[in-house]
Amino acid sequence: MKGHLLGIMSGKPVCVSDFEHQAKRILPKAVFDYYYSGADQQESLADNVAAFKRWRLLPHVLKDVSKVDMSTTVLGQSVSMPVCVAATAMQKMAHPDGETATARACLSAGTGMMLSSWATSTIEEVAEAAPTGLRWMQLYIYKDRALTQSLVRRAEEAGYKGIFVTVDTPYLGKRRNDVRNHFKLPSHLRMANFETPDLAFSSKEGYGEDSGLAVYVAQAIDPTLKWEDIAWLKRITSLPVVVKGILRAEDAREALKYGVDGILVSNHGARQLDCVPATIDALPEIVEAVGDRAEVYLDGGIRTGTDVLKALVLGAKAVFVGRPILWGLACEGEKGVSDVLQLLREELHLALALTGVIKSENPGCEAKRIKFGQQESIQFEPHNKKQTPEDTEAMLILDNGNSNLSLQPLTRYRNGKPVVMQEGMQVFPTSPFKLPGVIGHKERVDRANILPRATSSCESHTFAEGTAEGLTSLALLANIKSFSKQLVAEETQKGSKIQRSHPHLDDTE
Ligand SMILES: Cc1cc2nc3c(=O)[nH]c(=O)nc-3n(C[C@H](O)[C@H](O)[C@H](O)COP(=O)(O)O)c2cc1C
Repeated sequence: MKGHLLGIMSGKPVCVSDFEHQAKRILPKAVFDYYYSGADQQESLADNVAAFKRWRLLPHVLKDVSKVDMSTTVLGQSVSMPVCVAATAMQKMAHPDGETATARACLSAGTGMMLSSWATSTIEEVAEAAPTGLRWMQLYIYKDRALTQSLVRRAEEAGYKGIFVTVDTPYLGKRRNDVRNHFKLPSHLRMANFETPDLAFSSKEGYGEDSGLAVYVAQAIDPTLKWEDIAWLKRITSLPVVVKGILRAEDAREALKYGVDGILVSNHGARQLDCVPATIDALPEIVEAVGDRAEVYLDGGIRTGTDVLKALVLGAKAVFVGRPILWGLACEGEKGVSDVLQLLREELHLALALTGVIKSENPGCEAKRIKFGQQESIQFEPHNKKQTPEDTEAMLILDNGNSNLSLQPLTRYRNGKPVVMQEGMQVFPTSPFKLPGVIGHKERVDRANILPRATSSCESHTFAEGTAEGLTSLALLANIKSFSKQLVAEETQKGSKIQRSHPHLDDTE
């Protein structure tokens, strides 16, 4: 018996979900929950995967596909296929070899690995495990900028080839199971890149009733992050910089102004703000906005070769996979990661051949979004066109659900033509849209996604409730708050009777 997996698995895993099912059986519940979970109701978690199914590939035939070339480059470095490994924290919970096993598997596969700032192996250990491998450093910007700078310096010295700075995590998203489990690292493990127990997330002190990681982030990570900090990062390193966590075209355009080398379209595996779009749905607009001014990558929900191909067809230069790597690692360490990468390679190869594509760069086939039932692409915008572009992201239901607050009609756009929505109008017969701590809901809206704004400073808010969870939803909703305040003011002027369901959204600013 070669490894952990073979002892419990009857047949060879034939898809990523086979690895996931086995990993679920192997891992302690709190660990599986941490790896698996998305934020809040996990709507975006499901949608990241489901959205791929709404796209269909249109194959070409009779193209001689006896040879298919999947090689490409990422930030100028060669990779054998456009599938790379995303940063996932604390990999030693999955397997004792942790990140070093992942690094070796990536080297064998000829692809790149993004190492999390929160790895349980050091930057240097991972470099030593696969000295000739391609590695990038994922960076969280800490309140302590000297500490942040030292992470960058160590990555440069250890031969990492780029910095992926995560811009969607001013606070940690609320992952309910982590709260229930009071998630923290097992006592024999620590975030290996940090010295002090507090920074290494290995404090002997408890973290209270909350997710320990949410408390850690609220204490250590800098919520004041804004675009100027990307300029700061560019100044302190000569490595290429990629912003990780972009979901809107205007943020991508903004990033370009700060000279970034790449944009990673990501919703953090749906672990930050729930109800954001699936990344594959966000991709086309961002690709169009960026053009050839930077490389655009995607992560989130990639589970098959056809998922990879759809992302490529829609303009991604390469994709990154998160959870599937953890499932492989949990099952069989380095071999498990190699097997997952090989599985995706074979599936992508077959998908390319069957669509008549012989070079995965700029694939010539098409992807079309299918419609089911009434669903179609509809955008919501505030009716009042005087809103600034910053405000128009508050695509939010403006009703407290118990009567007399009906702040503003929204305009929906169908086939480019505006249709004014009436109060109570039911748009789609799907589940109501909810967010913790936000104004209520009355309209039933399908895919009423919220587009968060990257690197908006959240520090100016005071948080009466003070818990890490409370902080998260308020911080992530900072922009919505200012928007709703504006609408309230307008409606008050017009003499509407307004009742607040969440008065705490009114303080500060
Ligand atoms: C368990 C876990 C830990 C993660 N840790 C980090 C991290 O430390 N830094 C980061 O920027 N993203 C982190 N991510 C997000 C991933 O980099 C990536 O965006 C996401 O996993 C892609 O979605 P997928 O898991 O569906 O492939 C993590 C994701 C998971 C599932």
